[in-house]
Amino acid sequence: MKTTATLNPAITPPPGGELLHASDRATVIWGDCRDPQIIASVPDWYGLLCTDPPYGVAYKSGRGAFTQIAGDDGSVDWPGVLAEWVGPEGTRMRGLADARHIYVFGYTPADLAGPLRLGATEDLLWDKISLGMGDLTIPWARQHEPITFGVHVKRMSDRAKGGGRLAARLRRGSILRYQRPNNGGGERHSNEKPVALMADLIESSTVRGDLVVDPCAGSGSTGVAAVLEGRRCFLVEIDRQHAELAVQRVRAAEKLAIQMEAS
Ligand SMILES: C[S@@+](CC[C@H](N)C(=O)[O-])C[C@H]1O[C@@H](n2cnc3c(N)ncnc32)[C@H](O)[C@@H]1O
Repeated sequence: MKTTATLNPAITPPPGGELLHASDRATVIWGDCRDPQIIASVPDWYGLLCTDPPYGVAYKSGRGAFTQIAGDDGSVDWPGVLAEWVGPEGTRMRGLADARHIYVFGYTPADLAGPLRLGATEDLLWDKISLGMGDLTIPWARQHEPITFGVHVKRMSDRAKGGGRLAARLRRGSILRYQRPNNGGGERHSNEKPVALMADLIESSTVRGDLVVDPCAGSGSTGVAAVLEGRRCFLVEIDRQHAELAVQRVRAAEKLAIQMEAS
C-alpha cells in the first residue's frame, strides 16, 4: 500500500490517532487510517465495512466553497489501504468477519474484488436526484456515484462460491435514489452522504448490535446511520474539523437512539 498523501502538516494527526469519542455505541478517532496502530485497534470479526474513501482523482469544481479533500490527489492506493482493514490475504480471524459485506463508494468491483477478497459483488448506483458539481466546461453533470457491494470471503477456495452469511432478506434494485444532502453546498462536508442511504445499506447487511466500520468517516454519516439503526460504529477521520463534526453528529444520534429505544 502506498503511504504518501498530500496532507497539510497542520492537520496531520499524531501516530496512533486521538480518541475523540468512545461509548458503548460509537468510537471516533481523529487519525490516519493507514496507521498500523489504528488498524490494529479495530475489533476483530466486525460486521460491516462501509466507507467512502477519497476517489483518488484530483478534484476541482470551479464552483464552491470546499477545498480538495485529504488524500484525494491519486497518491494513495485506496483498495490496498482497505485490504488492511478487512484483513490481508493469509489472515483468517482478523478484520471483517468471514462472509460479511462491504460497501465502498466511488470504486468498482474490478478495483476491489482482488484486494478485498470478494466473492459475490454487485455494482450499485446512488442516484443523487440533483446534479453534482464537477467540470463546468462540459455539457454533462454527474448525477450518480458508484458503490461497490461485495461479500468478503477469507478463503480463496470459497471465493468462487460467492455467497454471504446473511441471506437476502429483501431483494432490491441496484439503483438507490436519495437526495444529495445540502445539494452539494451547505456547511458540513463536500462529499456528505445521505443518512437514509447509509441506513439502507447498513440495514441490508447487518443485524442489531453489529459493528460497522468506516475508516474515512468524513462528517460521520455512516456512524450516524449505524447508531440510529441500533448498530455500533468505529470511525476514523484524518481531518480534525471533520472528525469533530462526526463526534457532534454521532453524539446527537446516540441521544436520539436512546430516546427511540425508551419510547
Ligand atoms: C469522501 S469523504 C467521506 C464523506 C463521508 N461519507 C460523509 O458523509 O461525510 C472522504 C474522507 O476521507 C478522509 N480521509 C482522507 N484520507 C484519510 C486517511 N488517510 N485516513 C482517514 N481519513 C482520511 C477525508 O478527509 C474525507 O473527509
